Amino acid sequence: MQNIIEQYNTVDHTNVKKWFLAGRTTDFPADGGACVKYETRQIAVFHFTRISKWYACQNLCPHKLEMVISRGMIGEDEGIPKVACPLHKKTFSLEDGGNLNGDDYKIAVYPVKIEK
Ligand code: FES
Repeated sequence: MQNIIEQYNTVDHTNVKKWFLAGRTTDFPADGGACVKYETRQIAVFHFTRISKWYACQNLCPHKLEMVISRGMIGEDEGIPKVACPLHKKTFSLEDGGNLNGDDYKIAVYPVKIEK
């Protein structure tokens, strides 16, 4: 099971060599998430309309290794955009993937670029 987690590593936008076309903006729900597949990975993409931002992170919840993060609710915690796993409500920062419950779990986050 550890191999699944090891596939997911945060990518900083300055390290992107090639962008992956995840879909059209209309393919993703407002204030919600959708999952796209990139190679062997599942990536959750969120359109946070209230703050006019897009986020991407691993779809794999590190708590019980379930592919569910894209179905989580998004919101803010003291100004930090976050997603709550739909299963046990562990919450993660959409900015840096940090766990906001004080647990050791962390998720990988990825840059998003919108082209017109
Ligand atoms: S599986 Fe996500 S919080 Fe438990």
